[in-house]
Amino acid sequence: MSTTPKFRAAQSAIRELPPHGVVGLGSGSTVAEFIRILGEHTVREDLDFLAVPTSYQSYRLAIKHGIPLTDLSRNPSIDIAVDGADEVDQQLNLTKGGGGALLQEKIVASAAKRFIIIVDESKLVDRLATHFFVPVEVIPFACDIVMRKIADMGVVPHLRQAERKVGPVVTDNGNFILDLEFPEPIENPAEVEVALKMVPGVVETGLFVGMADEVHVGTASGVFVLRQ
Ligand code: A5P
Repeated sequence: MSTTPKFRAAQSAIRELPPHGVVGLGSGSTVAEFIRILGEHTVREDLDFLAVPTSYQSYRLAIKHGIPLTDLSRNPSIDIAVDGADEVDQQLNLTKGGGGALLQEKIVASAAKRFIIIVDESKLVDRLATHFFVPVEVIPFACDIVMRKIADMGVVPHLRQAERKVGPVVTDNGNFILDLEFPEPIENPAEVEVALKMVPGVVETGLFVGMADEVHVGTASGVFVLRQ
């Protein structure tokens, strides 16, 4: 069995789960570890969860690992959501969306009583936008006008291009992703979040401000937890 930092973070989040309830499944490679471990517990019947996935990736992984699925219409309140992050700052604000799943991830996180982030140490930063661009999901119809308005803010938008398909990435919701290159790390993520969401055509941003309750950080030798 692999014991990577991502695995340790995922295993630590599993220990936080009550024996049954509704769990939100984030997306990405760290959450893939979490889903695999949750599936093992589901098969052993010591955990009994209905899961709300946040992407086709987590939907398909949940099915593969035998985790029963539900949705926000049937279960609008989620007991605990577990997700990865691209960056985590000292106030536990996040950037997410490296995998393009930020919209459903944010909706599921907003419906969760408890939102747990699982990362390895490389994701911890002083300020957001240090190593990663900040993704925003935009409606294709508005893509170019949104790019112009964002450029006017002094931020460089890059339209995310697909690999092994020509043209832009199309999200699970049929939208495009702009990866925003800030001139320097973000001082006030809440302010930036509001400014971006005021641009018509922006559906959601990858800035998750004040949403995470705790962050489980896997390291080469163990795991530690950061709490609000
Ligand atoms: C998916 O869109 C993202 O928000 C992921 O949660 C984030 O990119 C972390 O992914 P990894 O766990 O693969 O680093």
